Amino acid sequence: MKPLRIALLGIGTVGGGTFEVLARNAHEITRRAGRPIEVVAVAARNEAKARRIVPSHIPVTSDFEAVVRDPGVDVVVEVMGGYEPAKRLILAAIAHGKHIVTANKALLALHGDEIFAAARAQQVIVAFEAAVAGGIPIIKALREALVANRIEWIAGIINGTTNFILSEMRSRGLPFADVLKAAQEKGYAEADPTFDIEGIDAGHKLSILASLAFGIPLSFDRAHVEGITHVEAQDIRYAEEMGYRIKLLGIARRRAEGIELRVHPTLIPSKRLIANVEGVMNAVLVKGDAVGATLYYGAGAGAYPTASAVIADLVDVARLIDADPAHRVPYLAYQHDRLGTEPVLPIEAVESSYYLRLRVDDRPGVLADITRVLADNEISIDAMLQKEPAEGEAQTDIILLTHETIERRVRDAMARIEAQPSTRGPIIVLRLENLA
Ligand code: NDP
Ligand code: HSE
Repeated sequence: MKPLRIALLGIGTVGGGTFEVLARNAHEITRRAGRPIEVVAVAARNEAKARRIVPSHIPVTSDFEAVVRDPGVDVVVEVMGGYEPAKRLILAAIAHGKHIVTANKALLALHGDEIFAAARAQQVIVAFEAAVAGGIPIIKALREALVANRIEWIAGIINGTTNFILSEMRSRGLPFADVLKAAQEKGYAEADPTFDIEGIDAGHKLSILASLAFGIPLSFDRAHVEGITHVEAQDIRYAEEMGYRIKLLGIARRRAEGIELRVHPTLIPSKRLIANVEGVMNAVLVKGDAVGATLYYGAGAGAYPTASAVIADLVDVARLIDADPAHRVPYLAYQHDRLGTEPVLPIEAVESSYYLRLRVDDRPGVLADITRVLADNEISIDAMLQKEPAEGEAQTDIILLTHETIERRVRDAMARIEAQPSTRGPIIVLRLENLA
């Protein structure tokens, strides 16, 4: 059978890994795809750098526009990242009838609807397994394997960089900045690492997962996104003492009133499997009404794991390229004219348990004042830890864990407690999920 001819746009961590794995496993991949997958062009702005990976018989060019128009290319693999020129090039490639494989979650989360509409009009495939959780086939699972289910919730560690940072901070006591530098050196971090540490990258991925799970349009602009820069070493320690680990979780939950869509540092019981996912590894828990809870685990970033996902998409294209477009799996799992209209709930309406750390005067009546405010707001306490004040200090830390409640109540209660003269400084509030 004639080969599938692909062009790479960009040849950095993911592009380089893809190139290498395609060459290394060519025999196995061809046996599975039914035809060889051949790299026929590489577009790179630094040709000399690309040549360190690409042998001389494969053309390397800095003319990205020519590559996406080239009639000799069947599939454009966009692994350059960013919004522009990636979006323009993908749309141009689609207009020229090319199928697309991309790892670019930022682009899909913001402009996916437009890209999918263009692709639908041209009857071409847009595949994006590498865009969420690196090597874990979570897109395949949601789009195909779990379609019998009404998905109830998803909770995932979907950013390797922040999981690596939190793991190293907890286990080795290393400072945030040193661990971030190591993650960048290993190729895990985004070109702009604020996307990782501020939770934006996880928010992009979560919005893609939520669309696949619930059949809603891409909703990144309505997600609540918090990163890990405000997580302090003492909260990691206190959480551990109380039997919890802190992870940056992406949570999408279907409720009667709408969809919760939120990324934030979260306490999870240490005994849960997902709490023990360390380093750059990712894990996604999906709860379906028929299947129950399922857990997907693997490397969420890095050259080879991400190449594994890119090549899986390429093999799908190789198998389907001659099939009737009407028989393809819809881009976002649901038929495009059957998308739901459930609203994304504001963070104040979210239901969660909470970890509260208060710095207070160590004198009679202070705890009673705090618990009175919580009771007034219908917040029930699940556990409490009070530390002895350090030598010579008149203040102490109180850590409270609450039962599940509505965020609005917690915000109101914290404002009232912070206004009490016995409370010293802002209260640290982290969400806690039991994931039972
Ligand atoms: P890199 O920065 O390592 O590589 C990007 C490549 O694209 C480089 O060749 C770069 O050229 C080129 N490039 C970037 N911007 C432009 C531009 N404006 N014009 C021309 N060329 C450009 O990125 P990654 O390989 O890490 O990431 C690629 C994509 O994969 C991103 O969308 C990322 O989010 C996604 N991804 C990354 C993962 C990872 O583990 N790294 C995992 C999953 C997804 P140059 O070398 O000259 O800068
Ligand atoms: N920067 C991302 C991460 C790469 O750390 O998970 C994988 O998408």
